[in-house]
Amino acid sequence: MEETDEQTEVQDPRLRRRLVLIPCPLQGHMTPMLQLATLLYSKGFSITIAHTHIIFPNQSNYPHFSFQSIISGGKPPSDVKTFIFYINNNCADPLKECLLSLLSKSDKQDYEPVVCIISDAMMYFAKDVADSLKLPRMVLRTSSAISYDAFTYVLQLNQQGCFPIQESRLEERFPDIPPLKFKDLPTMKTSDGSSLYEFLLKMLLTTKASSGLIWNTFQDLEKLALTSITNDVHIPLFAIGPLHKTVTTISSTTSLLPQDSTCISWLDKQSPNSVIYVSYGSIVGMDQTEFVEIAWGLANCGHPFLWVIRPNSVANCSQWEKLLPDGFHEIVRGKCCIVQWAPQQDVLAHHAVGGFWTHSGWNSTLESICEGVPMLCRPCFGDQAVNARFVSEEWRVGLNLENGLEREEIVRFIRKLMEGKEREEMMVRVKDLKEKAKNCINQGGSSLESLQSLINYILSFNK
Ligand code: UDX
Repeated sequence: MEETDEQTEVQDPRLRRRLVLIPCPLQGHMTPMLQLATLLYSKGFSITIAHTHIIFPNQSNYPHFSFQSIISGGKPPSDVKTFIFYINNNCADPLKECLLSLLSKSDKQDYEPVVCIISDAMMYFAKDVADSLKLPRMVLRTSSAISYDAFTYVLQLNQQGCFPIQESRLEERFPDIPPLKFKDLPTMKTSDGSSLYEFLLKMLLTTKASSGLIWNTFQDLEKLALTSITNDVHIPLFAIGPLHKTVTTISSTTSLLPQDSTCISWLDKQSPNSVIYVSYGSIVGMDQTEFVEIAWGLANCGHPFLWVIRPNSVANCSQWEKLLPDGFHEIVRGKCCIVQWAPQQDVLAHHAVGGFWTHSGWNSTLESICEGVPMLCRPCFGDQAVNARFVSEEWRVGLNLENGLEREEIVRFIRKLMEGKEREEMMVRVKDLKEKAKNCINQGGSSLESLQSLINYILSFNK
């Protein structure tokens, strides 16, 4: 899509509409919401971001948006699941106040009327607020369509009393969503099943009760899942991704952490397709044993590597350097670059990068596909195992490191990803998907058409 971040279809201000967007304050959710905001702004909508003070974007990067805080103060829980409950339990009243103030302003001629709110699916508190004000509410799904399908089945299976699934069945294929295995369903990874179900139920019920669903995906990638969801939800679906390719916003503007660009100069010195890039996204951590095995696997694989190690991402260890034995640094000298946070999209687009070892978060998966980089998947929780299964067995553009994480196995998998016939075959398929991702946002492409339908749909709210 040839877009700039400037408004390209600016209308008479009296006809403009304001959208209030409610992101979930986590990197993997905030990024696509800000990209959607930028895209809709470029189409003539005015944008208000209703955010928490816990994690929020740098407002100076978005001078055209207005920002409204819907919660401040208080120490949020550090565990992600409890954190999401905390937000949902505390943000409804502040959001209502914020919307009431915007609605009263729009009575004045110079302020655009709020026609719709768009909330992240995990921000389910927005439903009751929108209903009470009779405002249409749309939901942005920041993860894959297949994972939505999987979440739906988790609830059904739970209602049928099928959980916990016997240990012996975890490796079996899940017949309703091939090629998933039972162990890929998100429920298997949590000890506290009941709160997971409660969370999923609230999220899915409020999603289905919305006026429409916006997806950061594209038809050629997830046609089957999108069709199955259309049949299930009976509300309009708009698959308009990959969002990061539809806007020209540079990735640093959506990043909540400062990106270390020194790794790009390091990549400049490496041979084409030689480097394995390793990053587990913004939440996933690892224990100390895993960390040491990964380090040795990377040191022994024979390929240069760029490794993102976020502060405090190794459990109970503030100085991961101390976990590496004497001699490690000598072995990897000149062959590795370690940063706390990278400009990931630029890294994946760099000609030196030949593979991506990822936790299979949806943004990382899409970003890798869009740059034609095959993946080594090491999923951890939530939607990640579902994404990894599809990457490795449906789209066949990566490998799934799903069993033990020990150094010899890591070396074997990295070599398979970076060398030989299997790599060549994955490269053909990932390049094909890259091309499809490019085409869907160009003239006549499915995502561009969906975006136009979405705009028309939002405009219809004001009639
Ligand atoms: C979370 C969940 O873990 C994920 O499964 C879900 O699909 C979305 O929410 P996260 O773990 O952060 O997200 O992973 P991901 O979705 O891949 O998003 C990470 C984002 O951070 C990507 O956009 C990536 O480009 C960016 N990133 C990551 C950086 O900019 N620099 C880095 O060093 C690492």
